[in-house]
Amino acid sequence: MSVLDESVAPAEKSHKLWGGRFGAGPTPEFDALNNSIGIDFRLWPYDIRLSRAWAVALWGASVLTLEESRAIEQGLDAVGARLAAGEAPIATDEDVHTLIDRLLHDEVGDVASRLHTGRSRNDQVATATRLWTMDACQRLDHAVRTLQGVMIAQAETIETALMPSYTHLQRAIPVSGAHWLLSHFWPLERDRARLKAGARSAAVLPLGSGAVAGCAYPISRVLLQGTLGFDALSQNSIDAVSDRDFIAEVLFASTMIGTHLSRLAEDLIIYGSSEFGFVQFGEGYTSGSSMMPQKRNPDALELARGSAARMLGNLTTLLATLKGLPSSYNKDLQDDKRVLFDATDTLLLVLPAVAGALAECTFRTDRMQAALSSTMMATDLADYLVRKGATFREAHGAVGRLVRESEQTGREMQDIPFASFAAAHPLFTDDVYESLSAAQSVAQREVEGGTGPSAVRAQIEQARTALLPPPTPRSNSVV
Ligand code: ARG
Repeated sequence: MSVLDESVAPAEKSHKLWGGRFGAGPTPEFDALNNSIGIDFRLWPYDIRLSRAWAVALWGASVLTLEESRAIEQGLDAVGARLAAGEAPIATDEDVHTLIDRLLHDEVGDVASRLHTGRSRNDQVATATRLWTMDACQRLDHAVRTLQGVMIAQAETIETALMPSYTHLQRAIPVSGAHWLLSHFWPLERDRARLKAGARSAAVLPLGSGAVAGCAYPISRVLLQGTLGFDALSQNSIDAVSDRDFIAEVLFASTMIGTHLSRLAEDLIIYGSSEFGFVQFGEGYTSGSSMMPQKRNPDALELARGSAARMLGNLTTLLATLKGLPSSYNKDLQDDKRVLFDATDTLLLVLPAVAGALAECTFRTDRMQAALSSTMMATDLADYLVRKGATFREAHGAVGRLVRESEQTGREMQDIPFASFAAAHPLFTDDVYESLSAAQSVAQREVEGGTGPSAVRAQIEQARTALLPPPTPRSNSVV
């Protein structure tokens, strides 16, 4: 008996999956720390699914009679219906598994006590979390695709608009507006591949691993795998109950999505400032200022940028949790769901908001065009000399001198007299002024992945193709 035990309820008073070897029940302080129902409640549909499959597996292993197995399955359906109808957990429910066990006892009585044969919450929670993650990856994929669809639609509105590209946030070379916007499309495409890989890692079934050493009854894990829609069976029960690599992978994918959204948001926020003026924000995803009547603030984009920090925090939290754990299940792992759910919830809020904010942006193509200064064609001028036989280094030096003249005299390049061009390099002839147009500059860059008009058209088509649903596998793939 502990010195703190005055208020402790005996173990029998609450529905517990353990407690037999304990004289007194846990302290309220322990319960407050230990109970995870507030976090893992949302796993209930998955826990019911795997429990139904487990009831059948136990029948297959002759642990349950057909009647018992059926009674448990029906009971689990009834529990599912109650939870779907809004039944809430009670204070003594330690976690979602305990809650479902309690409700199942409510529905079918003592036979419910047979369901927890040969399994542990260790393989149970790992299985439920994997099922949840497999679904979450699909929901995330859908939300990312929706944003990518908006990107393509908006890119088409600025396909022929020219704007500066930037390196070091300094004006670099003219590009098509679509080329800039689609530079944010492809990172998300890579993220979708990462999500898919995360879902594949999640699709390995731990059920049948028991607490740590494997189930002592001859259940068919292969049947469980098929019923529950997993791709493979875990190979080692000690590893299986503590493998959270799939969560780390999904959190990494989420962190990358967060990072990519943050960079898109940052571009839009900068381009939406009066100084740039390339983008005009709509009203659906912005807010005003309580003091400055003129303000329209891009809050949704700023929140998206900020949320990337939380995503990264979630990833590092999980990795830090995993790194020092001894093998097999340890209670530290209970907190895996906190970070997984937070990252997913956050992205499912942020992705539609960014899609909406982008959809209602208007691009000011006049402002984009006006930001193109002739010194941005300096690389084209150097290329002009190279095409006429100069080395690039020599050309670079000659054009540099002309840029200096442009800066010193405050003249655009096309206003510099031909004599200066001729003095800078003998290979300049008076057709040089043609290579000073942004349209000409862009037109030179028809290389795959470049900003030339045909290359950008092809890129838009490739982006569209990337969003097509994957071909459905042929049902009879055996040859
Ligand atoms: N709520 C626990 C979790 O999420 C379930 C597993 C409990 N296992 C145990 N050995 N106490 O990790």
